[in-house]
Amino acid sequence: MDVQKEQWGSRLGLILAMAGNSVGLGNFLRFPVQAVQNGGGTFIIPYLICFVLMGLPLLWIEWSMGRFGGRKGHHSTPFILGSMGKASLWKYLGVFGIFTNLAVAAYYCYIESWTLSYALHSLMGTFQSLSQSEIAQYFNTYVLMGTSFLGIPNEALLFFIICILINTFILSKGLSGIEKVAKIGMPLLILFGIFLAIRGLTLGTSAASAEFPLANAWDGLNYLWTPDYSSLYSPKVWLAAAGQIFFTLSVGMGTIHCYAAYLDSKDDIALNSTSAGFTNEFVEVVLGSLIVIPIAAGYFGLDWIIENMSFGTAFQTMPFLFNQWGTVLAAFAGVFWFGLLFFAGITSSLAMGTPWIGFMRDEFGWSANKGAYSFGFLTFCLGLPCILFYQYGFFDQYDYWAGTVSLVVFALAETILFSWFFGIGPGWKEINLGADMKIPGFFKWVIKYVTPALLVAVFLGALITPEGNLWIEAFSSLLNGGIWPLDNNSLILQISNTKLLEDLAGSTDPGRTDFLEKQIFYTNMARLVLLSLFLFICTLVFIAHKKRKNAN
Ligand code: ALA
Repeated sequence: MDVQKEQWGSRLGLILAMAGNSVGLGNFLRFPVQAVQNGGGTFIIPYLICFVLMGLPLLWIEWSMGRFGGRKGHHSTPFILGSMGKASLWKYLGVFGIFTNLAVAAYYCYIESWTLSYALHSLMGTFQSLSQSEIAQYFNTYVLMGTSFLGIPNEALLFFIICILINTFILSKGLSGIEKVAKIGMPLLILFGIFLAIRGLTLGTSAASAEFPLANAWDGLNYLWTPDYSSLYSPKVWLAAAGQIFFTLSVGMGTIHCYAAYLDSKDDIALNSTSAGFTNEFVEVVLGSLIVIPIAAGYFGLDWIIENMSFGTAFQTMPFLFNQWGTVLAAFAGVFWFGLLFFAGITSSLAMGTPWIGFMRDEFGWSANKGAYSFGFLTFCLGLPCILFYQYGFFDQYDYWAGTVSLVVFALAETILFSWFFGIGPGWKEINLGADMKIPGFFKWVIKYVTPALLVAVFLGALITPEGNLWIEAFSSLLNGGIWPLDNNSLILQISNTKLLEDLAGSTDPGRTDFLEKQIFYTNMARLVLLSLFLFICTLVFIAHKKRKNAN
């Protein structure tokens, strides 16, 4: 196979593209929700510990694996992993690094398309005459494809297609296209974020009025920034923190390997990866926490946030809050907020396209154009049922299996490969080759023992989550000869649809019964689609492997 000669144009471009890969919707939509749902200040300590003991080590591992594979002409995880371990198994575990990206891109581009549409609507003043409940209702109608844009119906589908076309076009330009978007998108995103964060920081109690009697932005900030050490004993909070670290840094996905495969063989990894990781953390912990939480608390108060904060708040509530700032500022704030989300999203979704394109180029000689357009086509086909059957949880299944479980499984596999099969000795050398920064030697030990142990704990924690997340009670039940009471959210009971089946059995309302039956059907369909996708990529890897063997 020909070694691809394409490389990053500049160090700044590389760091911004890598940071753009990490900085995404997760920083602004997922982080505040996770933080609020896990007790605010309670969440921060496990989160930061997970960043140091899992996030940073995984960044170093993935960057060095990518550069190692790139040296041998591999630009996607199946053959990058295959070049580091002898057994065939590694190549097939590497399939996760393409599978996850295709499946996540399908629903991720859909959310990205909402942000594009909402930015335009903010500019057009669509939300300015609407009440709070009308804005919330607008979103519900939008996702059910009931809204139109400039008279064109099925707005959600329209913007999804536009978004895929934009991604595809940029990807067809290769790394230089990605670099250009990162160089424009990242500074703009930070600028928009700073504008909104200043608003969040200065709102205080100024909005308190008869309409907003509980307004207090400080309460929102204090809630997040008052550490609570009791969380150290809560496995639920640890699981949530670890999940957020994976998603936000894009580790366990395969995109970092792919980007790093285009490095020069002795380019620095240590400093570049650490800079990209810390840029992501700055955007998440500083900007991500200074926008939605204080602004919403600055009008509705902290209790409202604790009860209502969800992923939808960004779309269902923020435009209403911006309206309180007057016509002009509301339009600016809306464009800044949804524009920020769009740039955060696109710099990540572009990264999700590169493993597929790299694989098809390396193994089947496809051009960048063919790779990019086939990625667009696959994303569209996989995303379409997410749009059509959104209310039946199709979307949620993708997010759970591809966007959550797969990341942990792949991260665990690659860490074991790197530390134990490739070997921590050569692995550590690879991380430090060409390094412009000295990584403390203590991390060699962390990578070998602590990171894999934590990953195993995270995986087991998700697999057998006890009922109500009551771990101590579950252990004592086991010690007393009882059973381990599984929670409906545990991976095991998710697979068997236990909660849905229980709800169905207890339903007496024909409408609800019909809805639940459909939900079970589409849940299983989504899993079938994901499984088929995984097997399809395995088949491609198998064919590529045979081709390579015959060529030698
Ligand atoms: N890391 C990307 C995000 O946070 C996937 O959205």
